Amino acid sequence: MKAKPFIKWVGGKTQLIDQLEALLPADFDTWENVTYIEPFVGGGAMLFYMLQTHSNIKLAIINDINPDLTTCYKVVRDYPSALINSLKDIQKEYYLCKDWDARKALFMKMRDEFNTKPLDPIRNTTLFFFLNRTCFNGLYRVNKAGLFNVPFGRYETPTICDPVTIYADSESLQNVEILTGDYQQTLTRAQGNTLFYFDPPYRPLSNTSSFNDYAKEAFNDLAQQRLKAFCDQVQEAGYMFMLHYLTCDKNKRIKDLFICKF
Ligand SMILES: C[S@@+](CC[C@H](N)C(=O)[O-])C[C@H]1O[C@@H](n2cnc3c(N)ncnc32)[C@H](O)[C@@H]1O
Repeated sequence: MKAKPFIKWVGGKTQLIDQLEALLPADFDTWENVTYIEPFVGGGAMLFYMLQTHSNIKLAIINDINPDLTTCYKVVRDYPSALINSLKDIQKEYYLCKDWDARKALFMKMRDEFNTKPLDPIRNTTLFFFLNRTCFNGLYRVNKAGLFNVPFGRYETPTICDPVTIYADSESLQNVEILTGDYQQTLTRAQGNTLFYFDPPYRPLSNTSSFNDYAKEAFNDLAQQRLKAFCDQVQEAGYMFMLHYLTCDKNKRIKDLFICKF
């Protein structure tokens, strides 16, 4: 696969693609003019896989509540060359730092700038990529004020600019509509043979769990009930869906579970 997630994202599904593919309806490739909708797109592992593997997908809609992330998708789709040039510059600046203190100082400067909104979309995306590659574990976490606060991570040679992936992703995204906001807005975009793939944030396993730090609000029990009601709505409207969620067995081992309604 040439197109693949352009960022590291907690909960990324790259390792589970074969399992997800096996869950698709056996006759999926015979469906005509499919609309594929991913309401919680994150890093988009399944999105890039589906776009390259199932040519009967004529339209794809992706959505995420994180505007910095959806801006990245738009910039990758529409301005790959400008983004690559800007990433090359920032990568060079990082590698020219003479020691770890200088690298950390650059990281803090870029983090402060990222938190000073609004920014031009290409600059915002450049900083997002930079922080994603140089912060601790590629995490995305914001404080109560909505400011990105992940600390510096010590990586010897992070790949901040990967032109091959950016160009491949840009090509893949050409027929993809990118929405920002709550997942519920995606239902209005469904039409005809539509498949939804839901990969929501995980229900916190404990009060201190950092599993779903993507947004300010936790994906708690109430949020789970709202999602269940939405899935019922999708099904009643005659559309198909796959829902991916995590559970914990009695030995506290985390397991992936799926609900498929075709
Ligand atoms: C488990 S991650 C998705 C991971 C993705 N499948 C991947 O491969 O990287 C869940 C995503 O849901 C987004 N999210 C959280 N609450 C949301 C909401 N109410 N509506 C839409 N997206 C939401 C988060 O920003 C996060 O990117």
